[in-house]
Parts: sequence; structure tokens; C-alpha cells
Amino acid sequence: AMCGACTMHVDGEPVRSCSTFIGDVEGSDVTTIEGIASADGKLHAVQEAWIKHQVPQCGYCQSGQIMSATALLRDNPNPSDADIDAAMAGNICRCGTYTRIRRAIKVAAGQQAPRSEETEA
Ligand code: FES
Repeated sequence: AMCGACTMHVDGEPVRSCSTFIGDVEGSDVTTIEGIASADGKLHAVQEAWIKHQVPQCGYCQSGQIMSATALLRDNPNPSDADIDAAMAGNICRCGTYTRIRRAIKVAAGQQAPRSEETEA
């Protein structure tokens, strides 16, 4: 449970599937990355922002990043940089896509990404 790549939602809260026993979630609402798009296939705003800003590099961590980001925006629809950093701290990206992750979260939240981030990789 150190990297967050397997983050899913259990009753809406982000948890690590790698350290969760299936018996512990019996009767709970479990949502994985496959379940956040709408039934008609429309992607979640976070997924759209991820694509728009080409967040993934190798992609390994990205499902977990998106699941943590959607939980953050549900609880805090207008997060500050500090809010984003705190909420995403448990999701490690070995490719270092943190700047793009922050930008995509802000775009999904309806915020204009800061100009300085527009030029960063
Ligand atoms: Fe490679 Fe995050 S995109 S580990």
C-alpha cells in the first residue's frame, strides 16, 4: 500500500486494493477506474483533463492517480495547490508527472491552470 497505483473507491473513499481483503468490502460500493465514466461512456471530467493535458507517461500509476483525484474533487471542488498536494501525496509517480497531474486536477475543477505550469513538462 505504498504507491497508490491500485487505488479504488470503497463507499466513495479512496483505498488501496492491494491491502484490502475482499471479505472486508462485502456489501460495500466498490468502484474501480473502469467505473467512473458514465453509463453512456462519457468520460469523467478528470479523465477528460488527463487526456487533454497528456498526463500519463508510462501509465503505471495513473489509474490510482485518477481515483484519488476524483475523490479529492468530490470532497473539495475548488482545491488549492496545497489541497492537491496533500490529497495526492500517497500516490507515487516514478515518471514524475506531478506537475501535469496538478494541472489536470485544476482543469477538471474548472480552474485556470497557472501560467507557469503551462510551460512545464
Ligand atoms: Fe509512470 Fe506515473 S506515469 S509511474
